[in-house]
Amino acid sequence: FALVLLLTAECLRARRPRSFPPGPRAFPLVGNIEGAPVCFSSHSLVLCLWQLSEKYGKVYSLKMGPSWTVVLNGLSALQEGLTKGDHLNDRPEFPIHSDVLPDLGKDRFSIIFSNGHMWKQQRRFALFTLKYFGVGKKSLEFSILDEFMYISKEIANHKGKPFNPHLIMNNAVSNIICSLVFGHRFEYGNEKFLKMMKLFDKGSQIEASIWAQLYNAFPVLMRRLPGPHHALQNIYGEIMDLIKTEVNQHKEDWNPSEPRDFIDCYLNEIQKVDAGFNEDNLVMCGFDLFGAGSHTTSVTLRWALLYMTKYPEVQAKVQAEIDEVVGTSRQPSMEDRADLPYTDAVIHEIQRMGNIVPLSLPHVTTRDIRLGGYKIPKGVTIIPNLTSVLFDKNEWETPDAFNPGHFLNPEGKFVKRAAFIPFSAGKRVCLGENLARMELFLFFTSFMQRFSFSTPPGVEPVLKPRFGVTLSPPPFEICATPRKE
Ligand code: HEM
Repeated sequence: FALVLLLTAECLRARRPRSFPPGPRAFPLVGNIEGAPVCFSSHSLVLCLWQLSEKYGKVYSLKMGPSWTVVLNGLSALQEGLTKGDHLNDRPEFPIHSDVLPDLGKDRFSIIFSNGHMWKQQRRFALFTLKYFGVGKKSLEFSILDEFMYISKEIANHKGKPFNPHLIMNNAVSNIICSLVFGHRFEYGNEKFLKMMKLFDKGSQIEASIWAQLYNAFPVLMRRLPGPHHALQNIYGEIMDLIKTEVNQHKEDWNPSEPRDFIDCYLNEIQKVDAGFNEDNLVMCGFDLFGAGSHTTSVTLRWALLYMTKYPEVQAKVQAEIDEVVGTSRQPSMEDRADLPYTDAVIHEIQRMGNIVPLSLPHVTTRDIRLGGYKIPKGVTIIPNLTSVLFDKNEWETPDAFNPGHFLNPEGKFVKRAAFIPFSAGKRVCLGENLARMELFLFFTSFMQRFSFSTPPGVEPVLKPRFGVTLSPPPFEICATPRKE
């Protein structure tokens, strides 16, 4: 009897609610089969979500596991959803976080997964503090250029022989976050630094795995099943402990009138009366800045090198522009950007084609809304399909080809494109956008100024992405030949 009752309830739930956006037929328990979103962790999910919009329109619905999800496709649907009003500002709950990590996540608030007042407060504080410590300013520019000198030595050590740039990029980008949050960089061989990066890598592998996706869809079942998802608690626990150690060290010689970094500023804030600021939330925010800020920029830089080996003529043109504007006797600076339109266009095109966060992060409706002419009730998960905008044939002249011309006018001047939204849009837009843009520009121009990159003899660059927490290049080796000093 219970089984019949359960199945009947499931059959009713599988029926698309009235006035809801259209979409493929949903089945009880499993949800949608057409287009195979069952295959949660494959690159084909991104492609199939995109293809479904050809059949069902820019706003369509899917049943993923037990719950309904609405997918927004194309620039106007994304703009309508994300930038008009505040009804899509919240994140849905991720059972893998709130359930598998009860000791870590409960009553602790950070930025990425918080909602309402706590989210606004932590986000506003993080944005202000990052700006205070130089995002968009000379001081941070110096840290990035300084870090480049370290990786440049590492790269030069390979003496033109093939090497995998993965670790080098991770090191460089993570050290920029370390400088901002901890107030210092680490030597690349530092045990604590290596451990933290390894833990983040492991954690993101599990987060992107089918286990985590299944957990978020069927928490009751997955809670009882053994699997690697249970390891997340220890992994994240260890990362939090490492961040806590830094916080404790800061407290020993902390001078409130001279904050050195994000941690010091947060400790100052804790002294004020607002209960939203406490040490648990400080650790969570540090965790978020590392989690969201290292992997993303490092993956983009790896795409950049790979695209340059695939298109050596583009690489040569970038180098010629840098040689002419910056020369070889000084390092590039942010002020050079306006005079390097081709290089800027190439960086934008790398981000467009790299499409590293193809489905953005999910949002959830905070009340009943109308979107694309449909009624969507409160509590429905919304996926902003960034891929549908970054590759839209109505927005880009040659959407599937690597073409820096997308960002250049006939006179060769850089042009902004509204459909360039790798950082998403609206109030939840990437908090690290300005930092990432600075890092990408300074690291990329420095690479191009000092080295020429190519694949090892006889090896063709492979541009097929791997689907994980981000779309990243498959592991590859590269040769870096030093250019004239
Ligand atoms: C959120 C992309 C680098 C911190 C996001 C989102 C995207 C994104 C698509 C989701 C926005 C939404 O929910 O609609 C990228 C890309 C990057 C990058 C493509 C690099 C190329 C960074 C960096 C930081 C960072 C360097 C570090 C400061 C964050 C945070 C959020 C976020 C904290 C959550 C914002 C919130 O929920 O309010 N990012 N990101 N990101 N990003 Fe980035």
